[in-house]
Amino acid sequence: MSLSGLFISFEGIDGAGKSSHIETLANAFRAQGRTVVTTREPGGTPLAEKLRNLLLNDSMDALTEALLVFAGRRDHLCTVIEPALTRGAVVLCDRFTDATFAYQGAGRGFSLETLSFLEHIAQTGVALEPDLMREPDLTFWFELNPAIAAQRLSQARAPDRFEAQDLAFFERVAQGYSLRAAEAPERFVRLDAAQERHQVWQQLQQVLVRKGLLPTTAAQSGAPS
Ligand code: TYD
Repeated sequence: MSLSGLFISFEGIDGAGKSSHIETLANAFRAQGRTVVTTREPGGTPLAEKLRNLLLNDSMDALTEALLVFAGRRDHLCTVIEPALTRGAVVLCDRFTDATFAYQGAGRGFSLETLSFLEHIAQTGVALEPDLMREPDLTFWFELNPAIAAQRLSQARAPDRFEAQDLAFFERVAQGYSLRAAEAPERFVRLDAAQERHQVWQQLQQVLVRKGLLPTTAAQSGAPS
């Protein structure tokens, strides 16, 4: 029996702690015999990683920023994500289009209408069904109070262009994620990222067990200490 591909994205404001769970989840799926591709945005291909470098370091106007984000996403979808899904792999992507609506849209105040248009042209025509707009099957949204996230980030490495933004920016980004979640409640799973790391993992794995995507024992064996 061939397995169908599964596309999961991980979202949240900077400092919410999403990245640390991706490798753990990849191992839990691999223990089930699944092929797993872990990737990220901006980036995920040689071309898109070059664009990431520009996005995180060079100043530019909001439309340029949005166009670069979607250019990288198109390349990522065509050359990595879609082929992996076609092979039946599990694709775990650290951020995807919800981040664009949250950061460029809510954070920067860029037109949501234009972002929706770009989303449609960049994400359609890559799948076998020509009219399908490719989106994650499931999105884990790590929700954390922006003030707590800022405190966590202040102990981390030198901030990039986004991480250097003020608290008000991240409050808008957080609001942007809430809006996206409200628009797609069947796709979004909210996790309380204020909890301890192992508790956040428990929330995440319980959802996957409930959805029949991981068996209880496999999920437990992948738990972080
Ligand atoms: P991030 O996952 O935080 O990378 P790292 O953990 O290495 O810092 O992503 C980098 C930044 O890019 C993050 O601040 C959010 C921003 N971003 C956008 O502004 N728009 C997007 O569409 C995406 C995917 C990310």
